[in-house]
Amino acid sequence: MREAFFLAVTQSRAKRSCAGAGRGVRCAQMDTNLYLVGFMGTGKSTVGRQVARQTGFDFLDSDHEIERKQGKPVSQIFTEQGEPAFRAMEREFIEHGHPAKRCVVSCGGGLVVPPGMLELLRSRGVIICMHAPIETILQRTMHASHRPLLQVENPEQRLRELYAQREELYRRTGTMVLTDKRPLREISAHVLRVYRQEAASFGK
Ligand code: S3P
Repeated sequence: MREAFFLAVTQSRAKRSCAGAGRGVRCAQMDTNLYLVGFMGTGKSTVGRQVARQTGFDFLDSDHEIERKQGKPVSQIFTEQGEPAFRAMEREFIEHGHPAKRCVVSCGGGLVVPPGMLELLRSRGVIICMHAPIETILQRTMHASHRPLLQVENPEQRLRELYAQREELYRRTGTMVLTDKRPLREISAHVLRVYRQEAASFGK
């Protein structure tokens, strides 16, 4: 009886400390990877870096990891090998190219689009979707030249089309966190709250 009581107290303490997990905390579910998904320009990398700092997790950006492995920028991969080859590299990165625990991964905007990718990500960790209205995304992306899908005559039209095509899919990925007109610390606190809740039941 005494032992059972002790066990119950210890378990509830462990649960509480996991629920409050932050920097350097080690407990099974709180080792679960976090995948940030969402459209280009929604702030996945900025938020991801901040959350990684706060949790002590490693930060990885799928585009940068692929660029490092291939030794060339994403835009060059698109022109030389085509988009399907790039999508296969994204799949390879998720399947075999990163540690299974304690990572915050910023996923390229199209990574969840090919069939099966969302399910694959779900089997690897918690998914949170960064969200911003199309007008904000237009402002954030219009002057950057590194995104191959926007190297077209009318990038605004292309963005609007892609946004419309993918909106429904992003909504199905996971909890959506708005990144528009909010300070970074508030966004990362929101992401951490969702992560803790969802990591606690991951794999159960
Ligand atoms: C893409 C988004 C990009 C990059 C590639 C394709 C997409 O990543 O992976 O240009 O299909 O939405 P970001 O979302 O980090 O810009």
